[in-house]
Amino acid sequence: MLSWSPLALHFNLQLKISALLLGISSALKLTVPSHTLHGTEGQPLNLPVDYNFNITVSDIQIIWLFEKPPTIHIFLLSAVNQSVVPDLEYMHRFTLSPPSASLLIKHLNRSDEGTYIVKINVHGNRTISASGRIRVTVDVPVTKPLIYTEPPFGVVEKRGNITLKCAVEKGTRIVYQWMKNGNPIEASANYSFSVNKDTLSIAPVVKEAIGNYSCLAANPVSAMESDTIMPTIYYGPYGLTINTDKGQKVGRVFTLDKGEAVRLYCSADSNPPNIYSWIRKANNSTHPIKYGRSLEVASEKVTQKTEEYTCSAYNNMTENQAETHIIVIIIPKGLEHFIQKGKYLSPLAVITGISLFLIVSICLLILWKRFQPHKVIQQKLQIRPEADYRKAQTISGHENALDDFGIYEFVAFPDPAGISLVSSRSVSGSDVIQGQDRPGTIYEVVRHIPEQHQEHQE
Ligand SMILES: *[C@@H]1O[C@H](CO)[C@@H](O)[C@H](O)[C@H]1NC(C)=O
Ligand SMILES: *[C@@H]1O[C@H](CO)[C@@H](O)[C@H](O)[C@H]1NC(C)=O
Ligand SMILES: *[C@@H]1O[C@H](CO)[C@@H](O)[C@H](O)[C@H]1NC(C)=O
Ligand SMILES: *[C@@H]1O[C@H](CO)[C@@H](O)[C@H](O)[C@H]1NC(C)=O
Ligand SMILES: *[C@@H]1O[C@H](CO)[C@@H](O)[C@H](O)[C@H]1NC(C)=O
Ligand SMILES: *[C@@H]1O[C@H](CO)[C@@H](O)[C@H](O)[C@H]1NC(C)=O
Ligand SMILES: *[C@@H]1O[C@H](CO)[C@@H](O)[C@H](O)[C@H]1NC(C)=O
Ligand SMILES: *[C@@H]1O[C@H](CO)[C@@H](O)[C@H](O)[C@H]1NC(C)=O
Ligand SMILES: *[C@@H]1O[C@H](CO)[C@@H](O)[C@H](O)[C@H]1NC(C)=O
Ligand SMILES: *[C@@H]1O[C@H](CO)[C@@H](O)[C@H](O)[C@H]1NC(C)=O
Repeated sequence: MLSWSPLALHFNLQLKISALLLGISSALKLTVPSHTLHGTEGQPLNLPVDYNFNITVSDIQIIWLFEKPPTIHIFLLSAVNQSVVPDLEYMHRFTLSPPSASLLIKHLNRSDEGTYIVKINVHGNRTISASGRIRVTVDVPVTKPLIYTEPPFGVVEKRGNITLKCAVEKGTRIVYQWMKNGNPIEASANYSFSVNKDTLSIAPVVKEAIGNYSCLAANPVSAMESDTIMPTIYYGPYGLTINTDKGQKVGRVFTLDKGEAVRLYCSADSNPPNIYSWIRKANNSTHPIKYGRSLEVASEKVTQKTEEYTCSAYNNMTENQAETHIIVIIIPKGLEHFIQKGKYLSPLAVITGISLFLIVSICLLILWKRFQPHKVIQQKLQIRPEADYRKAQTISGHENALDDFGIYEFVAFPDPAGISLVSSRSVSGSDVIQGQDRPGTIYEVVRHIPEQHQEHQE
């Protein structure tokens, strides 16, 4: 490098003086870029300088200096009129083409970074001078960044942390920016950065953190974005539901016509996919049925009028399990007919009503089978004490909402007085007749009850 020379000192002094003169004389006007010029290593860089004057001159002198912090000024070259006199050490590195005062740096080297000073002297019947300073930075362009994930295989939601590191092979003065699905990530409760932002930490990791992450590495002369990566986050199962192949989403209760079959699908959101299993609950005992998402329920195979099927979803990475169940009710043919008549009710209300009706019927029948031998029932049909009706009514009390058929459940003892108790305000006589006029509906259910004695009445 050039050592501190008397020449440089001389120019330095003169510069300071001329800077003062510039304020006094505005006959020479010098324009240089006010902002920093960002150059790329290995590339040429032009330092543009403009000047004009309104006096008659004979000689124009242009001088370029390089300022080495803190105070050293290195002479680069100078020109008078058309003749350029470079410093021999740097003669291959700079180009000046008078009368233009702009300096071209042919191949930027990182050591070229600094402040360049240009001084112009114009000499006529007097000499006026002006000078300017240009700041230059030299950067190496960034290469495409790569993201490294720690841990590389994946983490369980709420249990692990994820660290993403943005690695760039080459580049100077890199500024990092992280993005999720293309949007910049700000530091927050879940996201934190290293000091230079090349590392992103996600803690705690939640399902919502799933997304396409990328990092942008930029410097004054270049910007490169990494490929996106999607960290593996294990979660779930969430939102477990059972659907059917009939299309509609079902609630807890699904009714199935006798002779029909339905396929139940179990689904829940999770990563990795859940392991599904089906369990049947009936007769106060549970039976594992099968593994897999779907289960076919054929009404013939359903041994009871209602059966509960439970779907269990298990995520073997999060080790979480979820369960939901569905009650399948087989509707006898007659009732199905009845449902169609009740069009004024919403289908769901009808289904719910029928379900409740059947459940209560079964409960009641079990009770009766246990406590009341049927012969006694038959004997007492005509002379049934009032108390029995009260009991029946109590058990089926909530059936009042479904006045139409709730009555007939207990028509096994068709006492007009008793019925009128149930159907509150309606005229007792006509009610009974109506009920008997519909043999195909309720009676069939009832006839199932005392299997022993009324089997073949149809
Ligand atoms: C040159 O221009 C400056 C202003 O730009 C003015 O003050 C000065 O008088 C001018 N001189 C001549 C000789 O025109
Ligand atoms: C310099 O020359 C100009 C004409 O080109 C003239 O107007 C001016 O007065 C001269 N200045 C001096 C100091 O001689
Ligand atoms: C510069 O050019 C002018 C005329 O254009 C001439 O008078 C002067 O002598 C030249 N100076 C040098 C150092 O060659
Ligand atoms: C930059 O300059 C240094 C010395 O000043 C030299 O060693 C290096 O090779 C140069 N690099 C380039 C790319 O020219
Ligand atoms: C995750 O980060 C939190 C806080 O940043 C820390 O308390 C916890 O120990 C970390 N867990 C793991 C598994 O590294
Ligand atoms: C941040 O973490 C909280 C729980 O700590 C969570 O509720 C929230 O969804 C998380 N946000 C993001 C963007 O991950
Ligand atoms: C992430 O990118 C993949 C493919 O580029 C795309 O299929 C997926 O929907 C993206 N995820 C998000 C959350 O944007
Ligand atoms: C239900 O249990 C009873 C005895 O409690 C038994 O007789 C009957 O076979 C069982 N039914 C089924 C379907 O397991
Ligand atoms: C059902 O089984 C459980 C235990 O398996 C028992 O506690 C309960 O009393 C049983 N219920 C009936 C109605 O048998
Ligand atoms: C989780 O289950 C899948 C198959 O469903 C299996 O391939 C995997 O090894 C299991 N992982 C663990 C940790 O048990």
